[in-house]
Amino acid sequence: MAIDRIAVDLLGHAELDDDHQRLVDHLNSLANEIPDASYELCVQLFDALEQAATEHFAREEEILEGVGFPGLQSHRAYHAELIERIRQLRNLGWEMADKKLLFQRFVDMANFVVEDIIHGDMEFKEFLAAR
Ligand SMILES: [Fe+2]
Ligand SMILES: [Fe+2]
Repeated sequence: MAIDRIAVDLLGHAELDDDHQRLVDHLNSLANEIPDASYELCVQLFDALEQAATEHFAREEEILEGVGFPGLQSHRAYHAELIERIRQLRNLGWEMADKKLLFQRFVDMANFVVEDIIHGDMEFKEFLAAR
């Protein structure tokens, strides 16, 4: 059930790049742990991911607000949807859902997070660099 280690693209903004690396580290440890770890540990790891994602999104949105990024509203909505997906996964962990299902849903969510880092955030890369 393993997935390849997820790598992160650089945005060129030290603080946000560190955040992204941290998120990817959380995803990689979940990918390693979900198949064999206890549900209790899975829930803890989802909680840790939610906390890291919430902190990152708040920081990123504040920076984007500060520079007047025009796509902020839809990017904010995208972040909110991601947090919702992480919460749904945590709930699946609470409910002790089948591990194969949990892992599959995790992969879908991880793709969504990576999509945010690689494509969503790249939309403001040049905008930030020009400030
Ligand atoms: Fe981001
Ligand atoms: Fe983002």
